[in-house]
Amino acid sequence: MKIDILTLFPNMFDGVFEESILKRAIDDKKVEIRFINFRDYSLDAHGKVDDTPYGGGAGMVLMCQPIFDCIKNIRTDHSKVILLTPSGVPYKQEMAYDLANEEHLILICGHYEGFDERIRSICDFEISIGDYVLTGGEIPAMVLVDSITRLLPGVITDESHINDSFHNHLLDYPTYTKPRVYEGMSVPEVLLSGNHEEIRKYRTLESIRITKEKRPDLLEK
Ligand code: ADE
Repeated sequence: MKIDILTLFPNMFDGVFEESILKRAIDDKKVEIRFINFRDYSLDAHGKVDDTPYGGGAGMVLMCQPIFDCIKNIRTDHSKVILLTPSGVPYKQEMAYDLANEEHLILICGHYEGFDERIRSICDFEISIGDYVLTGGEIPAMVLVDSITRLLPGVITDESHINDSFHNHLLDYPTYTKPRVYEGMSVPEVLLSGNHEEIRKYRTLESIRITKEKRPDLLEK
C-alpha cells in the first residue's frame, strides 16, 4: 500500500513512523509513506497557500490551487483521497479494515481555520477521529496510518486482529503475564488450567461483560 500525506508540517511526523511495528512495516515494504508539502505546488511567488475568508471571519483559509494541483499530480485511478476534518464521518475500526484494502491513500491534513469548501469536491471521504478540534489534520493522519498499517497482511499476526477490541463489536478480554500473584492480585485460575475450551469461554464472557460495563452502545450493534 502507498500512503501520501499532504501536509504543510512534514516535520510533525518525525519519529512517529520510525519505531516499533510501523518502522518494521515500512522497512519490509508493506507500506510506503510519502510526505508531500503542498506549499511546493503553490503558484504564488511567496508560496502562499491560504488567504482570508470571503464574507469575513477569523483566521486564514487553505486555498484550492495548491491542493488541487498536488492531487491532480499524484492521483491515479486507484487512489482514494481522504480529507481529515472534525466535520467528517467518525472514524471506526470497520473503516480501518476497508481502507487497508486500498492500493493508494492520499490524506489531506487541513490546518489554520479551515479550507476552501471546494476542496471537498476532490475528496472521496471526509474523516474525523473524534468530536474535538485539533490544530490540524496531522495527528488524525497519524491515527489513520497506524490503524491501517497494522492491518496490512504480514504486519502483525491474524490472531492479534481477531483478539482486537472492536472485533465483533466487543472490547478486548483481560490478559495477564507473569507473576501469578502481584501485590495480592492473582491471575484467574482458568487461565492456568491449560483447558483451551474453558479459556475460550472465559474470554468470550469477559469480553461481553467488559463491553456491557464500559461501552453498552457497542452491544446494541
Ligand atoms: N482536524 C482537526 N480536528 C480534527 C479531528 N477531530 N478529526 C480529523 N481532523 C481534524
